Order: sequence, then structure tokens, then C-alpha cells
Amino acid sequence: MRVLGIETSCDETGVAVYDSSRGLLANELYSQVEIHAEYGGVVPELASRDHVRKLLPMIRDITSRSECRPELLDGIAYTAGPGLIGALMVGGAVSRSLAYAWKIPALGVHHMEGHLLAPMLEEAPPAFPFVALLVSGGHTQLVAVRDIGQYEILGESLDDAAGEAFDKVAKMLDLDYPGGPNVAKLADLGDPERFTFPRPMTDRPGLDFSFSGLKTFTLNTIDAHRGDDLLPNEQTMADIACAFQDAVVDTLVIKCRRALEQTGFRVLVMAGGVAANRHLRTRLDTAVARLGASLFYARPAFCTDNGAMIAYTGCRRLEAGQADDLAIRAMPRWPIDQLSSISR
Ligand code: KG4
Ligand code: ZN
Repeated sequence: MRVLGIETSCDETGVAVYDSSRGLLANELYSQVEIHAEYGGVVPELASRDHVRKLLPMIRDITSRSECRPELLDGIAYTAGPGLIGALMVGGAVSRSLAYAWKIPALGVHHMEGHLLAPMLEEAPPAFPFVALLVSGGHTQLVAVRDIGQYEILGESLDDAAGEAFDKVAKMLDLDYPGGPNVAKLADLGDPERFTFPRPMTDRPGLDFSFSGLKTFTLNTIDAHRGDDLLPNEQTMADIACAFQDAVVDTLVIKCRRALEQTGFRVLVMAGGVAANRHLRTRLDTAVARLGASLFYARPAFCTDNGAMIAYTGCRRLEAGQADDLAIRAMPRWPIDQLSSISR
């Protein structure tokens, strides 16, 4: 089965084609980062308008390749949520209409399920069951994954997502949007011994997260070290970025370890934009190895938003006989544990 995947849930336009026997045949990504950078964050209306501009030319480009011609496609999968409603509507309307015109099925896919399954695109994919750490701009969740569509949320953030905390701390440090990678870069220059920030909610049982207190702690530390030029000096900023990153990473590692112990699963999968963080990868690698378990993650380009993960997820569900009716689906909020299983 050959599936065209479309991702437009936020500020990236992603188009890809996945073939169940031959793997990924094409993958294109356009990032709107420059459009939103001057506002310091994603402006939803600008995001929708840019998806309108970019999506059809990207689809035309990919489907002009000999292997991805419309007559060779068996279905279209698009991100139906969660995400920005206007941005989702663009991908949904285009996908649903093309599928109708090409007389093939369409399927609305869950964005976080796409992230969760992205490591399946790698050469050595994880086997079920596993614990998934989903860490993106909008979500921080630990999920017990028994099969595609069999998801049990073990814990999640009660306030800010990990990526959101990275983005907000980046703003406090006057770093450009998108904040996560820039905080990580600055943290590399920091002295890990200078500050120790709290590890929220690690002193009590449970698998939930909370990052808003850590964010305030970071702001207070910045305030305490402000100089005449309003921000602390460069080394102090790097030391603060380092302490913040360490605290987030440590918290995530502690909870992942707990989730593996609680479920008895031997495999951890981490996915979503923050999974691209090098420090998190290294620390989780060590922690998971110590437990005799294995860690899986996608290449950095498939950790952040992309069309390949949507094409893959859609392909697995369409193969299992799932398909939508003619409605365009767009759900800004859509809990992952409401998804249906693909095994009958
Ligand atoms: O999964 P994603 O691309 O989009 C959402 O579904 O939200 O995740 C984006 C988030 C942003 O908050 C971004 O700052 C964060 O992932 N991020 C990182 C890194 N790369 C992206 N955070 C920390 N370190 C990174 N290297
Ligand atoms: Zn995402």
C-alpha cells in the first residue's frame, strides 16, 4: 500500500509518501520558522495562510515523481489533530478533496500518534509493547503502548509541556524562536556546577509532570543576576540555560525510569520535538541501559513535525481497513487514548 501523508498542524508543512513494502519514497518539509520568528512564536492565522500557499505546490512536486504519481497512491493520510484549527483545516480540506478526486480513501491521523510511531521509520524499529515518552511543544506524556492504537496514558504534564518550557525560557534569555534548539546550544557553553534547579514532582510517587514552577525559578534566577544591560552576562545566561536543561532532562529521565519499572516493559521510545535534544538522548541512553532496557528514537528530522510520520501512521491504519467518510476532520483537542486499535 502506498500512502501520501500531509502534516499541517502547526508551523511546518510536511508532505511524504510511504510504501508498506518499500518504505519511505519521498519526504518534503517546509518550515515557517522565519515567518513567526519576528513575533517570537507561532501566529496561527499566518500559519494557516502559509499552509495554503505551500501545500499544493509541495504535493504537486512530490506527485510528479514517477514513484509517487496519483494513480499509484492507495490513500491519503492527513493530520486531523491536535493542533491549530486553521492550520489543520487547510491540510484536511486539501487532503479530503484530493482523495475524493483521485477516488482513494482518506484518513485523519492523530499528530501525537504520528510522533510516537516515527521511530518505526528507522532501520531498527522498536517492538511492542513499549513505554513512549512524548515530548513536544504542546505535549509531555508517558504512554504505555501495547500496539498501534492501544494507548494508556501513564502520566502527563499538568501545565506547560517540556517544549513549551524550553520556548518560554528561550524568550526570557532573549533567544530567537524556536527556543528549544537555541537553549540547548547555549546550555552547551554553560557550567553545570554553578546552579542547581529543582526537579519538579520527582519527590512524590506518580508519573505526572509540572514545568511551570521550574520556569518561574528560572525567571527568578535571571532576575537575581540582571546587570545594567538588563540581562545577566553571557556566561551567566549559559549557566542558567544549562541548569534549566539539566533540570528538565533529569525530571524526564527519572519519570521514564519509573514508567519502565511500573509497567515492566523493556523498551522506551522517545518522540516529539524535544526528543531531538542531544543531552536528553545521552542521559536516557545511560539510564535505560542501566535498567537492561533499550531506547529507541527517530533521527532528529523525524522527531520534529514532518509528513513521513503521518504517511506511515496512515498507511498502517488504512492497511487495517480504516478510512474516513467524506467529512473533513479537524480537532484542535483530541486525547490519544481515544484512538481505536488496529488489531481486531
Ligand atoms: O514536535 P514538535 O516539532 O511540534 C509539536 O508538535 O509541538 O516540537 C516542537 C518543540 C518546540 O517546543 C521546540 O522548542 C522543541 O520541540 N525542540 C527542542 C529541541 N528541538 C526542538 N527542545 C529542546 N532541545 C531541542 N534540541
Ligand atoms: Zn509535533
